[in-house]
Amino acid sequence: MKKDLSKISGFFKLSVSERQALISKLVNLNKEEKQILENFGYFSSDQLDLISENVIGSFCLPFAIATNFKVNVKDYLIPMVTEESSIVAGASNGAKIARICGGFHSEPIKSIMIGQIQLTNITNPDVVKKNLLENKEYLIKIANLCDKTLVAMGGGAQDLEIREISTERGQMIIIHLLVNVIDAMGANAVNTMVEKIAHVILEKKMVKAQINLKIISNLAVHRVAKCSAIFDRDLLGGTEVIERILDAHVFAKADPFRAATANKGIMNGIDALALATGNDTRAIEAGAHAYASLTGNYGPLTDYYIDNDENLVGSIEIPMPMATFGGIINKHPMTKIALKILDVRSAEELSQIAAAVGLAQNIAALRALADEGIQSGHMKLHIRK
Ligand code: MEV
Repeated sequence: MKKDLSKISGFFKLSVSERQALISKLVNLNKEEKQILENFGYFSSDQLDLISENVIGSFCLPFAIATNFKVNVKDYLIPMVTEESSIVAGASNGAKIARICGGFHSEPIKSIMIGQIQLTNITNPDVVKKNLLENKEYLIKIANLCDKTLVAMGGGAQDLEIREISTERGQMIIIHLLVNVIDAMGANAVNTMVEKIAHVILEKKMVKAQINLKIISNLAVHRVAKCSAIFDRDLLGGTEVIERILDAHVFAKADPFRAATANKGIMNGIDALALATGNDTRAIEAGAHAYASLTGNYGPLTDYYIDNDENLVGSIEIPMPMATFGGIINKHPMTKIALKILDVRSAEELSQIAAAVGLAQNIAALRALADEGIQSGHMKLHIRK
């Protein structure tokens, strides 16, 4: 390996083809590899260069459809982008077991995101809190001036909460601005608003404090999707399998090592749907895992019990900042097709579906684990292929 291989000044200033040539030379790509790098798929190199930085190519992954999904009595085809072979089959299978008892039921969700402003160097927290609360309506109004379109659509800043936290560096006051971002993920709108009101707080000398961070929180506790389904006992494999599934579930509740894997399985499906629809997988992941540990003990995002008919009832609760607008969503040709396949009208509807996908994925994994084991299921899939 060449010394200082990665020290390339002004790499970002090069064109895509110049970057390709430089990297190809540095790592000795052969003719075939160069040809693959030069295949941009349905994008032009200029489009790719606008989407990201230091671009040298495009990256292709399978775009698949999970079947059998019925959510709030509507049928959906679920687009998924994933490299893991059993995810699409697992989701389709979980949805099939729920379908016979009516499918998934997802509750309504408001697209409320939190913007945080951190106030430090506080000498009198009570006075700071009082001053902020006295200016609450004014600050909400200022925030809403930042995004008139959002407000005209029925969204915008709706509330402002004040929290006091103890840190290693003393007491801090944290402002939470609650913003209804409607069909967006919300980072742009929320970050613009918190930066603006932080500026106004300083300018008007509203408080004796220093303002530090102004940024969205990915722990979207006001945008939680709640979804449930009845999983048919016979399709699950009978009472014994259900008992094993419940044993597996309480294992996850009692043990974070298992809970992390169970939640990874849930996110397998949700991330695949998020990628297909151009959503921010990192934001969704961060929120999900933080929510899973909100009680102080990291646990599974799903829950299960047996009903009077001896079927298994499953539920999931997960922050779901899925968007149908903004970022790459309305620009990427494949995300546009994904949204058309889904036939969703809003971010709320997409979030409700995403929660169902997570639950379907979890029940499919638990069933396979409690029955024949995940590897033997995988092997069958490989043999079929
Ligand atoms: C593998 O990608 C996901 C599983 O490990 C999930 C689980 O264990 O519940 C099968």
